[in-house]
Amino acid sequence: MAKIIAISNFKGGVGKTTSTVNIGAALSLTDKKTLLIDLDPQFNLTRCLGVRAESSIYGALRGDCPPPIIERSNNLHVLPSALELIKAETEFVSEYKREEKLNHLLKPISQHYDYILIDCPPSLGVLSQMAYTSADLIFVPIQSEYLALTGYGVLSEALDRIGLEIDAAFVTQYDQRQILDRTILEKLRSTISDKLFNTTIRQNVAIAEATTRGETIFEYSPNSNGANDYKALVQEILTKF
Ligand SMILES: Nc1ncnc2c1ncn2[C@@H]1O[C@H](COP(=O)(O)OP(=O)(O)OP(=O)(O)O)[C@@H](O)[C@H]1O
Ligand SMILES: [Mg+2]
Repeated sequence: MAKIIAISNFKGGVGKTTSTVNIGAALSLTDKKTLLIDLDPQFNLTRCLGVRAESSIYGALRGDCPPPIIERSNNLHVLPSALELIKAETEFVSEYKREEKLNHLLKPISQHYDYILIDCPPSLGVLSQMAYTSADLIFVPIQSEYLALTGYGVLSEALDRIGLEIDAAFVTQYDQRQILDRTILEKLRSTISDKLFNTTIRQNVAIAEATTRGETIFEYSPNSNGANDYKALVQEILTKF
């Protein structure tokens, strides 16, 4: 059975999608069969990987069709999203056991993968709850900026209310030259050291460029800081979990 990891933060633009793509790509390069699930109606993950899909996870969640999984490469598969997924938040809200829907969808396919990563939307709606219910682990990317720790605290408290907890966090878009970034990293290391990965993902223009080309960082610039950081993070993930 696959290990299922939800990558989540209520805060937008912290690197959830970028990290899902590149952690997944790094896992696939270490011979781990990996499925990436785009659970965000913005469908950025689908776009970031240059995937063109006829249908999305929305139809599969409704039970209209099997999950339309696309083979991006041998070890890297994608379950795409589309704007239509926005309807899920209102359509499923009154359904009994709605948070189990993704779980049911993944049960028969989980055995085909080593890892399943879920890119969550920046909110605590039905879609994120589905991701948390399906996941074995919840990872939180944190951008090294003002209020980062507050955002982490809010998410931690919200999860606590539904009987869940954050398993691990990592800092993204880190700029060592900025005093604020260094201060925030120190603060995080002193307050949530048990949850924080040692690896930080540095700010690296190649990461943003790869996204616009529909490529992973390993396809676009395999020797970049971004590629090295995501490789190091995945080594830590494989060791710790
Ligand atoms: N390490 C990095 N260095 C440079 N740019 C980065 C890095 N990580 C992410 N970015 C850029 O930051 C922007 C936001 O990243 P991303 O889309 O992954 O965030 P997100 O948390 O998924 O956002 P949303 O909440 O909207 O889903 C993107 O333009 C991405 O290319
Ligand atoms: Mg995103």
